[in-house]
Amino acid sequence: GLCLHGKNTLRLGEAIYRGLLRLEYRGYDSAGIAVISDNGLIILKGKGKLSELEDKYSFTSLEGITGIGHTRWATHGAPNDVNAHPHTDCNNMFAIVHNGVIENYMELKKILASKGHVFKSETDTEIVAHLIEEYYKETGSVYQAFKKAISSLRGTYAILLITPLEPHKIFYARKDSPLVIGVGNGYNAVASDIPALLEHTRRVIVVRDGWIGYITPSEIYIEELDTGRILEPSRYIRVVEWDLKDAEKEGYPFFMIKEIYEQPRALRSTIHGLVNDVIIDEAVKLLADADKVFITGAGTSYHASEYFALTTMKLSGKPVIPFIASEYEVYAEVAGSSDILIAVSQSGETMDTMKAVRAFKAKGCRIISLTNIVDSAIARESDIALYTRAGPEIGVAATKTFLTQTLFLSWISILLASETGRLNSNEVAKLLEELRNAPRYVEESVSMSSETVKKLAEKLVPVKSMYYLSRDIGLPVAREGALKIKEIAYIHAEAYPAGESKHGPIALVEPSFPVVFTVPSDRKLEKLLLGNIEEMKARGGFVISVAPQGFNLNERADIVIEVPRTHWILTSLTHTPPLQLLAYYVATMKGLDPDKPRNLAKTVTVE
Ligand code: G6P
Repeated sequence: GLCLHGKNTLRLGEAIYRGLLRLEYRGYDSAGIAVISDNGLIILKGKGKLSELEDKYSFTSLEGITGIGHTRWATHGAPNDVNAHPHTDCNNMFAIVHNGVIENYMELKKILASKGHVFKSETDTEIVAHLIEEYYKETGSVYQAFKKAISSLRGTYAILLITPLEPHKIFYARKDSPLVIGVGNGYNAVASDIPALLEHTRRVIVVRDGWIGYITPSEIYIEELDTGRILEPSRYIRVVEWDLKDAEKEGYPFFMIKEIYEQPRALRSTIHGLVNDVIIDEAVKLLADADKVFITGAGTSYHASEYFALTTMKLSGKPVIPFIASEYEVYAEVAGSSDILIAVSQSGETMDTMKAVRAFKAKGCRIISLTNIVDSAIARESDIALYTRAGPEIGVAATKTFLTQTLFLSWISILLASETGRLNSNEVAKLLEELRNAPRYVEESVSMSSETVKKLAEKLVPVKSMYYLSRDIGLPVAREGALKIKEIAYIHAEAYPAGESKHGPIALVEPSFPVVFTVPSDRKLEKLLLGNIEEMKARGGFVISVAPQGFNLNERADIVIEVPRTHWILTSLTHTPPLQLLAYYVATMKGLDPDKPRNLAKTVTVE
């Protein structure tokens, strides 16, 4: 959801539309805009991408006093014209946009239906508009009605409301779904993410859980829903460091390819943070003293978590338990007050990861978070908040954030190994130096591999299914490669430990079945993986290997993608870029939009 006030140079409809374009990565199966004009409420909405809807409705020509807009990623009710936001009450007086999930909407719907309310959509959101309508009859005040309605909701939400009854106000409330107020000069705005605001202002207030209030062109009102305490907005304003350029494509056709190519730059900024932030040492101490160390994340962030578990066990000898965020319950059961949970999340808003954090906190566990967004919800709930500093990532498939996460976490593994006495100061210095070279290795990896990868992509266009195999430290990288090609090129891909592949997966391998091997720079692993390559070749598999220069294949692979030979700890940095590029090229050759894969959203704030 997003909205903006007039009083700036753009027409209202255009300002909202442009803001929505910058939020489209969060969801894009349908969209809509509502404005309050001199003739009352106008709503235009429907199924499809924003640009298609713009052709149909001309959002940009809408004029008005106040407006809200929304791009949707369906949770309750199919993506169609009726279920698109904004939603209204019976009399079209209250227009609502909402991110999140209202858990008790069926109960509320029944109560409202018994009072004569008729619903137009199947969404959980619509009931909020009707609730407000109902409470407005009781209280005669829009704000009181809004507050009462919000108080009766269970679940997660970022909600915006406009009404012709108070045409200059946008009411907002937040619980567990992101929301940011943009503080302008003579106008204010509110959106679910910063890029939507950057065209207008870099001064923002990150709305906290439990806040409720409204904005007008000249006022920001903040209240704590639970306590009724009124907060002073100026205390919460902060200035965003990055600008719009960082959130634009800079001449690349898609965000994903731009973000792959800017990985060296992102890593430099990560290293800068690692070297200068004293809180890193605190985090390492905490980990060294911890009884058990858990690490969790979802999707790509889980792969980074698994990578950390391996580097830490290999280097420091300290056991680490990685788990997928949504599976937190079993793990939280065995956690206690002398344990640490590391929560990894690009957005810092993923609900599964947040739930894991809360469950571990309830057990008295301390939390270290690694997110990419300063002040994100997960960062705020943690004892130590660490940041990858990769800059905004817009492509739905994570790229630069995976590399910065693994570099960051590997750095911590090394420091931890120094703390546990497994590495001496010379070894530590040497390894950290190798990590500082990461940006250069990534540049080399991309320039060495991109031509081969492009040619290979053409061959994979008709493919329906493939394997990604590796061992040890290469395994999370193989998982990430499989996830990328699944997410954006829609090829079924499974990652497996290469040794395990003979216990089942190999049954599917027949002539020309593609098998991608990730071979880390490690002589022992190279030898083992060569054996697995032979097994696949013997079944006629189409073998692709991503391996360090000098890996002796004796022509046993069909395609060899060479990457720089480094210390094994850099495997994620050297081997992931060609796998990202492969997914990207197959997707674009199939005519797919890699930035907006179907059914996926960048930030999933539902369980
Ligand atoms: C979504 C995205 C994935 C991402 C995951 C975790 O499912 O589609 O690409 O890896 O969320 O996101 P986070 O922001 O927590 O890293």
